[in-house]
Amino acid sequence: MQVIIFDDAQQVTNNATQWVVELINKKPNPVLGLATGSTPISLYKSLVTKYKAGELSFKNTTSFNLDEYLGIDGSNKQSYRYFMDKNLFDHVDINKNNTFLPTCARGENPREQGLSYEESIKKAGGIDLQILGIGANGHIGFNEPTSSLASRTRIKTLTQQTLDDNSRLFKSDEFQPTLAMTMGIATILDARYVLLMATGKNKAKAVKDMINGPLSATCPSSALQLHENAIILLDKEAASELENLDYYTWANTQNRKINQEFGLYHNY
Ligand code: F6R
Repeated sequence: MQVIIFDDAQQVTNNATQWVVELINKKPNPVLGLATGSTPISLYKSLVTKYKAGELSFKNTTSFNLDEYLGIDGSNKQSYRYFMDKNLFDHVDINKNNTFLPTCARGENPREQGLSYEESIKKAGGIDLQILGIGANGHIGFNEPTSSLASRTRIKTLTQQTLDDNSRLFKSDEFQPTLAMTMGIATILDARYVLLMATGKNKAKAVKDMINGPLSATCPSSALQLHENAIILLDKEAASELENLDYYTWANTQNRKINQEFGLYHNY
């Protein structure tokens, strides 16, 4: 894991933006894994700004989102399709036919839908860079605590903590789904690079469990300890409970020197 600690959330956004821009400008047919939630909104804003400034084009990009609620369709303002359209897709030149979310409409078979999502990712050549947020309970995607570390795209029942955390986004008369389709942990681990963004004090415990804790289904994000290229971007607050804080700061200084000497090389 490469843990990089920044002074504030804006610097986390700036660094995440650089990763996406580098991938898109470097690879002819990039495949991006995308997340929803509050954390990546600033990243999407920044990408839209860069697109409008002519610094990148999403024309050849394919995207796969981590998850989608069950029981509401893409026209519902609470759906993750709607979120992606409003925060990114509607503002850039991505071909929406190449943007995918793991859906399962009424009457469809969730198992088949899950398998077909996995197949689509494979057919696109696999995910180059998967953007992730982290739940206060350590979830990634909607892989809630106790999710199998070998899981693939499937239905998950959301925990009460996740429902409570996300209830801030629903008006009192709006239906809040309790089920979702989500990429599995093994699906996420298949990505060539994973880039997890975490900001704010309320993520500090989950971040500690992910990085310092034992590898355990109790904290699904700890599975990233097994990933060859997991980049964890934190602001100071999210990093505040980490053990070895001094080591990460020291290692970051060394990494900057290594990058200056040998250049950045991401093997997409
Ligand atoms: C969203 C997702 C979730 C969020 C997590 C953090 O697609 O997969 O794992 O990344 O719940 O959400 P925020 O960023 O709202 O704190």
